[in-house]
Amino acid sequence: MAFKIGLLGLGTVGAGTAQILVDPSGRNPLLKEILISQVGVRSPEKARPIQLPPGVITTDLEAIVTNPEIEIVVELLGGLEPARSLILQAIDQGKHVVTANKAVIARHGDEIYEAANRAGVYVLLEAAVGGGIPIIKPLKQSLGANRITNIIGIVNGTTNYILTQMTTAGADFTDVLAEAQRLGYAEADPTADVDGLDAADKIAILASLGFGGRVQREDVYCEGIRQVSAADIAYADKLGFVIKLLAIAKGLGGTESDTLQLRVHPTLVPKSHPLANINGVNNAILVEGDPLGQVMFYGPGAGSGPTASAVVSDIMNIVAILKSNGQTQTLDPLLSCVHQHYCQITPIEAIETRFYARFLTGDVPGVIGHLGTSFGNHQVSLESVVQIGFQGELAEIVVVTHHVCEGNFRTALDEIRSLEAIKSIPSILRVL
Ligand code: NAP
Ligand code: HSE
Repeated sequence: MAFKIGLLGLGTVGAGTAQILVDPSGRNPLLKEILISQVGVRSPEKARPIQLPPGVITTDLEAIVTNPEIEIVVELLGGLEPARSLILQAIDQGKHVVTANKAVIARHGDEIYEAANRAGVYVLLEAAVGGGIPIIKPLKQSLGANRITNIIGIVNGTTNYILTQMTTAGADFTDVLAEAQRLGYAEADPTADVDGLDAADKIAILASLGFGGRVQREDVYCEGIRQVSAADIAYADKLGFVIKLLAIAKGLGGTESDTLQLRVHPTLVPKSHPLANINGVNNAILVEGDPLGQVMFYGPGAGSGPTASAVVSDIMNIVAILKSNGQTQTLDPLLSCVHQHYCQITPIEAIETRFYARFLTGDVPGVIGHLGTSFGNHQVSLESVVQIGFQGELAEIVVVTHHVCEGNFRTALDEIRSLEAIKSIPSILRVL
């Protein structure tokens, strides 16, 4: 007997998923028992990299989620609607769901998992974070004995690809973004990648799993990579750093009263740090826990095949459960979502971090002294101050701080902006 599944979407990830399922030989034998019953798309006349039997492709997505023969609905549409409504409808019809859609889970996960728990069905999402890297199941299961203290990741392939090309080939931001879109890494609207929103969705999901509580997506502080210039990449290099878009969730050990830091921003990473050498579309997630210490998950973070590998692993998991139980009775707590409380999030002004700031100043005596005094007035201690060179008439000064309170740093910058010698502050970045 075959297990019938319905795919919503046959784009980059949908086509990769179908490709694995129609070619099961040499893979896990369970795959031979899975049949793609229907596939929903927007434009049925579009050329596809995969041939499916006539009648499988439809534009009627509701017919898929209500089809009584289909046991698993695989949502690979992207975006919030109609993805959210179709997932909820599928759950309501008693179907298990597999999704790669971090945007919908990060924003509507509460509603979706409450519905899934009521209906006694699974909603699995291995592909939603890290593309082909197994990270959801490890956090839910393999690392479950630990008190998680830190999750730091490069979780967006598009921006890592862009920053890598800007660093190694001196490439232009717009050209590299176009190439990432052509390769199928970028979201339909690449703003989600470039402005850090995709990474923020992903860290919200990882934090919720790692720290065992719900996370409000709007609590994730988020800056993208648009302000990262070739000049900053070059100065960072001279100072011994590379610039990466990091997604960070930091806690004290996973109890309900802990507050979490949750943030996404471009960051100067010391070249000796393991995350400094993650290049191209690759992602890596460094998880720290007690008593484990550190473990790093690394691999292709986007693209058709890698992401489909994660999607199909979830489909196989559900098929294995269906096979062993006949039908599911009680949900396995290691595969379902059981969180009830919301994590408290530390406001960005209260976090402590190091900063890099670049100033354009008049070339006048005492300007470095004025900068030092203003920082000192607000308890911002400096690790280094370097006059890098000149831009026309203006001197270019780069400052790296010790760990300081972000609120104090911002107040010091407000004072510095009012100094006559300071013409502009073209970049402010955090340092790991
Ligand atoms: P995509 O290439 O844009 O494909 C989307 C598919 O959904 C297309 O087949 C499209 O139909 C269909 N679709 C979208 N809206 C529809 C609607 N309203 N009605 C009917 N069909 C609709 O997207 P993707 O890159 O495969 O991404 C799919 C999901 O996987 C997203 O949630 C994304 O965040 C996630 N993801 C992607 C990657 C990656 O590397 N691309 C990695 C991890 C996770 P047409 O083909 O007819 O246009
Ligand atoms: N657009 C996403 C990225 C796809 O570039 O990482 C993988 O989630």
